[in-house]
Amino acid sequence: MSISSGQNQTGSAFISTCDADTVARAAQALRAGALVAFPTETVYGLGADAQNAQAVARIYQAKGRPADHPLIVHIPSMDLMGEWAGDIPEYAITLARDFWPGPLTLVLPRSALAKDFITGGQETVGLRVPAQPIALALLNEFVKAGGKGVAAPSANRFGAVSPTNALAVKEELGEYLQEGDLILDGGQSLVGVESTIVDCTGVAPMILRLGAVTAEMIQESTGLEALYKNPAGIKASGTLESHYQPKAKVMLDVIAEAGDGLIAPDQIPTPDGVIRLAAPFTIEQYARDLYAALRLADEKGLEIVVVLQPGGDGLAAAIRDRLQRAAWPTRSAD
Ligand code: TXA
Ligand code: MG
Repeated sequence: MSISSGQNQTGSAFISTCDADTVARAAQALRAGALVAFPTETVYGLGADAQNAQAVARIYQAKGRPADHPLIVHIPSMDLMGEWAGDIPEYAITLARDFWPGPLTLVLPRSALAKDFITGGQETVGLRVPAQPIALALLNEFVKAGGKGVAAPSANRFGAVSPTNALAVKEELGEYLQEGDLILDGGQSLVGVESTIVDCTGVAPMILRLGAVTAEMIQESTGLEALYKNPAGIKASGTLESHYQPKAKVMLDVIAEAGDGLIAPDQIPTPDGVIRLAAPFTIEQYARDLYAALRLADEKGLEIVVVLQPGGDGLAAAIRDRLQRAAWPTRSAD
């Protein structure tokens, strides 16, 4: 497996296993202005103190992300919602109760704590309580150390595939990390696609990004219809046309030819000469393995990876959403 070489020759030293001491030290490092990449149940995040403008600026540098794209603030419990947001509608409280900790981000009217460098100048702030135990331990320690929330986008370069393990984070961002920064290793992310984002500024929830918390689940929880929409003017980088892209060209639902990579449900056989990258049995496994399989295509230096999309609603729709943004139109396109 290739390790990215970069300006930073100590890159291999960043990955750290997670005992209680390391997590406490990582929380201190965050408070001191360092970047800490950490596991969540969706994908790995690149964290910085959400009150520290300089630390947050380093996130944008490391990712190569435009500065007007807002960041999600991660908090250890819904008790801190009121610190970051005001005018919280009843249905947002219901969603937080039902799905936090979990793969759900709520977009709410911001409080004075959520500065422009977090919200990209918007009047809203995205909040999430992740379910991964190391993430929760880190956030709890961070609050004990006097912090209020950790800004964390997915720990990949802008437009690239989100990392679902610690090594993938190092490959994406190792060369942009500095002494004192850390990557906490919490193994493989269990969900594998980014959180569902729900805009809670209107009379009913509106889904801005599909994820493991589905429209049906949101409707059942709130009793309100949840539409999926990316309203013009709200910048959500996961909603740009091209995103989640590996170097290999992703082609959807075409016949794989010799030399191509293939990601497809288990029951689909692998044609001769085709390199099988994933063969998931279930939709959950499909989501969990997808990004690592796309990375594997790049590690193997493949030019084309054919992906047979899963059918169905819910998580399958979230997978298709990511694939369509990763995809190239035809085999002849370059
Ligand atoms: O699962 C996740 O959400 C992961 C983990 C690390 O928590 N994080 C993540 O962050 O995917 P990021 O920055 O890669 O994607 C968050 C998306 C971006 O498209 C951002 O523009 C959008 O959320 N977002 C954040 N705050 C927002 C806001 N106030 N209004 C609209 N969109 C917002
Ligand atoms: Mg992202």
